[in-house]
Amino acid sequence: MPIFGHDVCCVDKDAGKIERLLDGVMPIYEPGLDDLVARNVEAGRPRFTTDLAEGVKDADAVFIGVGTPSRKGDGHADPSYVYAAAAEIGKAITVYTVIVTKSTVPVGTGDEVERIIREANPDAQFGVVSNPEFRRKGAAIDDFKRPDRIVIGSDDERATEVMRQVYRPLYLDQAPIMVTERRTAELIKYAGNAFLATKITFINEIADLCEQVGANVQEVARGTGLDNHIGSKFLHAGPGYSGSCFPKDMLALLETSQDYKAPQRIVEAVVAVNDQRKRAMGHKVIAAMGGEIRGKTVAVLGLAFKQNTDDMRDSPAIAVIQALLDAGAKVRAYDPEAMEQAKPLLPTIEYPKGS
Ligand SMILES: NC(=O)c1ccc[n+]([C@@H]2O[C@H](COP(=O)([O-])OP(=O)(O)OC[C@H]3O[C@@H](n4cnc5c(N)ncnc54)[C@H](O)[C@@H]3O)[C@@H](O)[C@H]2O)c1
Repeated sequence: MPIFGHDVCCVDKDAGKIERLLDGVMPIYEPGLDDLVARNVEAGRPRFTTDLAEGVKDADAVFIGVGTPSRKGDGHADPSYVYAAAAEIGKAITVYTVIVTKSTVPVGTGDEVERIIREANPDAQFGVVSNPEFRRKGAAIDDFKRPDRIVIGSDDERATEVMRQVYRPLYLDQAPIMVTERRTAELIKYAGNAFLATKITFINEIADLCEQVGANVQEVARGTGLDNHIGSKFLHAGPGYSGSCFPKDMLALLETSQDYKAPQRIVEAVVAVNDQRKRAMGHKVIAAMGGEIRGKTVAVLGLAFKQNTDDMRDSPAIAVIQALLDAGAKVRAYDPEAMEQAKPLLPTIEYPKGS
């Protein structure tokens, strides 16, 4: 990232991604990111490489932002990519280095990262810090420049000081920095996402009640959210929360709660209600079309899980379209950014010619 005067090197194992970045082509759609990266690549920064050892060897801080998908079979977050990266980083560091987990990781992952690095390189000088990522897809640049807060989970004063230096320009710009113990920081990320998912699910159930009693859910949400204690964000009724973070993070939180025998009954209900809602949305469309849609053509506008992204992971459009296809409808779909990503997931529907 070309930020704050730091010298930044971006490492990815995916050679295709790195090649595209070197050519100035963004591998994902994020508003403003292509211009930002192109401008900085022209000025010779940041560096992009697939060579992890070269990228991290004398870094002050190394951020791990690899994927933590749901493990197949159970809902646990799979930290194996984080651990693999940690082992490689451990072997490569040559000076005191702060290893930062940016990925959303279950409580205790930092302890394991520390153990892995120590095993990979017994003489290494390092600290391990949790610095959860709160950026939203579609608004990532603004969220980065103007974060509500920066959470630094660190049990090591020297590492904390390096993190303060990394974020100093944001701090000078009034962003609150909260320093906590590492495990607390790891849990803050899950607690925050769980609260937001709960808000979304709450208004979705209120929407069902509105339909039955003849009330307008948008106005109910507005009238509720204008209370400052509640706030208006995440109170928009829709087809359920989705995307690359909330679904997997909720499952991972429930797994942690089971491991530690501290049930999270509210989150359990949120997950169940949300699952049911995505399927129900398809049936709602069918009912609105008279209950029989065999042979009819339905146009679907919007495929990604929300606007301003091409991310199709866990998009509710997939469940809705599947329900329509199961009922015998033909589906034609359009999305300004996500069509290429949608095609492998929804191969039997029609897309505009030339897309
Ligand atoms: N995407 C978001 O908006 C967002 C927001 C908050 C938190 N997060 C968290 O950030 C993490 C990453 O999410 P994502 O959506 O960017 O994932 P992603 O799967 O899109 O990207 C991860 C990248 O890491 C690379 N990678 C994997 N192992 C590597 C290794 N050993 N060395 C170098 N590169 C390696 C992969 O090739 C891939 O390009 C997750 O834990 C997620 O929960 C993401």
